[in-house]
Amino acid sequence: MSENSLVKDRTSVNIPLEENRQGEVLENVAIKQEVHNGKTFYIESYGCQMNFSDSEIVASVLGEQGYRLNKDYKSADMIFMNTCSIRENAEDRVRNRLKDFHHIKKANPSAIIGVLGCMAERLKDKLLEQEQLVDIVCGPDAYRSLPTLIAEAEGGQKAVNVLLSREETYADISPVRLDVNGVSAFISIMRGCDNMCSFCVVPFTRGRERSRNALTIVKEAQDLFNRGYREVTLLGQNVDSYRWKNEQEENISFAQLLAMVAEVDPLLRVRFSTSHPKDMLDDVLHTMARYENICNYIHLPVQSGNSRILEKMNRTYDREWYMNRIEAINRIIPDCGISTDVITGFCSETEEEHQDTLSIMELVKYDLAYMFFYSERPGTLAARKYEDDIPLATKKKRLQAIIALQMKHSLEKNKQDIGKIVKVLVEKTSKRSEEDMCGRNDQNKMVIFPKGDSKPGNYVNVKITECSAATLKGVIV
Ligand code: SAH
Ligand code: SF4
Ligand code: F3S
Repeated sequence: MSENSLVKDRTSVNIPLEENRQGEVLENVAIKQEVHNGKTFYIESYGCQMNFSDSEIVASVLGEQGYRLNKDYKSADMIFMNTCSIRENAEDRVRNRLKDFHHIKKANPSAIIGVLGCMAERLKDKLLEQEQLVDIVCGPDAYRSLPTLIAEAEGGQKAVNVLLSREETYADISPVRLDVNGVSAFISIMRGCDNMCSFCVVPFTRGRERSRNALTIVKEAQDLFNRGYREVTLLGQNVDSYRWKNEQEENISFAQLLAMVAEVDPLLRVRFSTSHPKDMLDDVLHTMARYENICNYIHLPVQSGNSRILEKMNRTYDREWYMNRIEAINRIIPDCGISTDVITGFCSETEEEHQDTLSIMELVKYDLAYMFFYSERPGTLAARKYEDDIPLATKKKRLQAIIALQMKHSLEKNKQDIGKIVKVLVEKTSKRSEEDMCGRNDQNKMVIFPKGDSKPGNYVNVKITECSAATLKGVIV
């Protein structure tokens, strides 16, 4: 999945824990709260949706121990950063942010600073040498050990757990929802990645791919629906390779899982991310076409439009295969929204090869794209085998051309929606105006409209009257 599609900006969390817990657990929490003297934690997430989803698991693990969420890092006893390593600038942001915490440590030397997630996994105990103020380093498969790590840190030791697991899916942990809209939520369906795209650090930071028990996924979706949520996004680095065996030893595929979640209720919208072009076959598309409530939207990262570069990237598909998948989407789901990720300036990419990326964008006409220039990541296949030989200025120039083309396409695609009536799931009040609400249509486009009587969680029909490259605007009809 992309940081991006996936990406939200840094966020903090501010829901009182008790709101999300069952009565019996509450009692337990109360006892543990006494033990922990009402200590609080603050958590901030970077990177992809998977990380945001993991922070909800962390909040659950800590909540079970009686620690309470605190939205203000300045008064928290523990500050956690759930970090991303996907590009160098993702790590730079975290390092910069850590600087803000120096004065916290000065004012309150017993405050604990923990680095979680992909940067923790990539750098391991080296991170403790590089960033003196960090007390805890905890990788993505080690969150159950956080209470122990906290105890060690409270005892004055630095604490590290970066063990990766082949089994951990946190399947039994009921995440504490940190999002504030109460309408849409993420559900992790798998962890890790077994694809070795040569540019990518994820297989190193997240470990081997493993799928979560389908029954716990459906249960989580049902619980969310019962609590008023109306949209779930199933998350994995490569959802199409989801595979889980039930008690009858039958394999459940991603297409089957999608159908199981869609059956929870016709009013529950189902989305997913990310699809891998090599694995996204027609069965998933047919399932999407069969269920009204599975949204007609696919994020299908292309990375490059040139087959030689795709091979060097170890993406295991070529331009023709990718276009064949786009044709299948357009044939089976004619009104499907399609978005992508693009990397420009990968090792040895020529000007003509860059043009191939522009030309595939022209062919597909994506609704949305997340576009990056190549950032070499230590330890990856590309870092070991290929020279990062495209000058930064060239990378930036190519990226600008790609962004300009995408802006043009996004605007063209949005203009085609003017005059249409679209079904929108109302999410929240618009950032720009208290008088407006916003929500997404089936194709994942953000729609803004005067609120009328609508409330978050309602479905409304909106007639589109105007647009920008980023959003649609309209009125409820
Ligand atoms: N599993 C998802 C991708 C997750 S990372 C998939 O296969 O599509 C999100 C995006 O970050 C990738 O799609 C890629 O476009 C970008 N990315 C990953 N590594 C990168 C690197 N080293 N430099 C620049 N962009 C990168
Ligand atoms: Fe990275 Fe490739 Fe796995 Fe996506 S599929 S996470 S790009 S290795
Ligand atoms: Fe996600 Fe970044 Fe890790 S994109 S998997 S948080 S490296």
